[in-house]
Amino acid sequence: FRAIKESPEDFGTMLYDPGYYNTAVCKSEITYIDGDRGILEYRGYPIEELAEKSSFLEVAYLLIYGDLPNINQLNLWTTKIMNHTFIHENLIQLMKSFRYDAHPMGMLISSMSAMSTFYPEANPALAGVDIYKNKLLMNKQIFRILGKLPTIAACAYRHRIGRPYNNPTDTLSYTENFLYMLDRLSETSYKPHPTLTRALDKLFIIHADHELNCSTATMRQISSTLVDPYTAVAGSAGALYGPLHGGANEAVLRMLESIGTKDNIPNFLQLVKQKKQRLMGFGHRVYKSYDPRAKILKKVTEEVFELLGKNPLMEIATELERIALSDSYFIDRQLYPNVDFYSGIIYKSMGFPTDMFPVLFSIPRAAGWLAHWVEELQDPDLRIFRPRQIYLGKRGCKYVPLSGRP
Ligand code: ACO
Repeated sequence: FRAIKESPEDFGTMLYDPGYYNTAVCKSEITYIDGDRGILEYRGYPIEELAEKSSFLEVAYLLIYGDLPNINQLNLWTTKIMNHTFIHENLIQLMKSFRYDAHPMGMLISSMSAMSTFYPEANPALAGVDIYKNKLLMNKQIFRILGKLPTIAACAYRHRIGRPYNNPTDTLSYTENFLYMLDRLSETSYKPHPTLTRALDKLFIIHADHELNCSTATMRQISSTLVDPYTAVAGSAGALYGPLHGGANEAVLRMLESIGTKDNIPNFLQLVKQKKQRLMGFGHRVYKSYDPRAKILKKVTEEVFELLGKNPLMEIATELERIALSDSYFIDRQLYPNVDFYSGIIYKSMGFPTDMFPVLFSIPRAAGWLAHWVEELQDPDLRIFRPRQIYLGKRGCKYVPLSGRP
């Protein structure tokens, strides 16, 4: 296209595609989505089956290495990751220096970014070796990121509630250890409830990847410069933090709380139709039918409610869904609940404060980011991401000294 020019000054034919709506920037074998039929598969495996039968670490392996692990591979993978759960004392000091009420997502992003200073071997410029040609070195960064992210997240949570940070333990599973670090009751005997561990594991599985969502596209964009993966993951987490992406489940909760009672739903939806409000947790760039992850979550919600009792916001959410799905405004625009509509309610029922929601999204999504990192760096077609623009601004202006300006 770029070679199609009318004159030498012409910079060539380009596709104007705001938000990359119709642009494919890579070929991938990781995640398949059919948005019209509500299908999601990781490496060919349906998400429903993985959520039911697999575990988060097994799914992370599948995403990154392309196949389900055998028993030896899974044991080694689990051991490697759990051996990397401790974080450096200086990183703990850095986290302790944040304001008492720092948003945990800000703490996570900064701490992940700071990890690049602890592991210079991952920076090709500093290490003097091309880590992208060294599988062992790449794997080490993967173990570290997946191992340390829950610890950073738990420290951010403990910081927010003004409690001492807890050390990880490798005697529990990945999700058990995370829950343990958040709420440890005693030095010896606390083991999280299996229903909550399983619910969190399912949440982690369904959040692990979603092809080129904004944060994964960010991962690929940043990694295309060959920067270290800690910096790239921190940038991706930054993209995830936004209320239109990973911050949406936090926004859903705030929306449901502000609606307050079922009687206020019609008025709220009126404001949405007047475009004065947005129905958070509804709509998706790719799904033009019910998000399969939202279906799985509705079931997880029941399991968690059975243990902990029903969250009153659930009534507002189900009624909101019922009314919206029978309203032509939402039907015509193919707006259905997405993964964020129910995840926030589950997290809230499990006792997570609202500002932890994007953090809970980032932990599993790191597996997807790393799968794309590995795939991208092995792609012979890899080029640095560099979109173009349509320039509409002024040209050839003459500089006027400050004293001469009106
Ligand atoms: N509430 C009200 N109207 C909406 C919503 C919504 N949640 N989503 C889309 N629309 C409307 C738009 O106003 C537009 O209407 P129009 O044709 O009258 O102008 C139409 O539907 C098409 O919407 P777009 O903005 O073109 O959809 P896009 O694909 O760009 O946006 C997005 C997708 C950002 C997810 C959007 O649906 C949204 O903002 N949803 C709420 C936030 C949310 O839940 N995000 C989580 C997404 S899932 C995830 O990131 C894990």
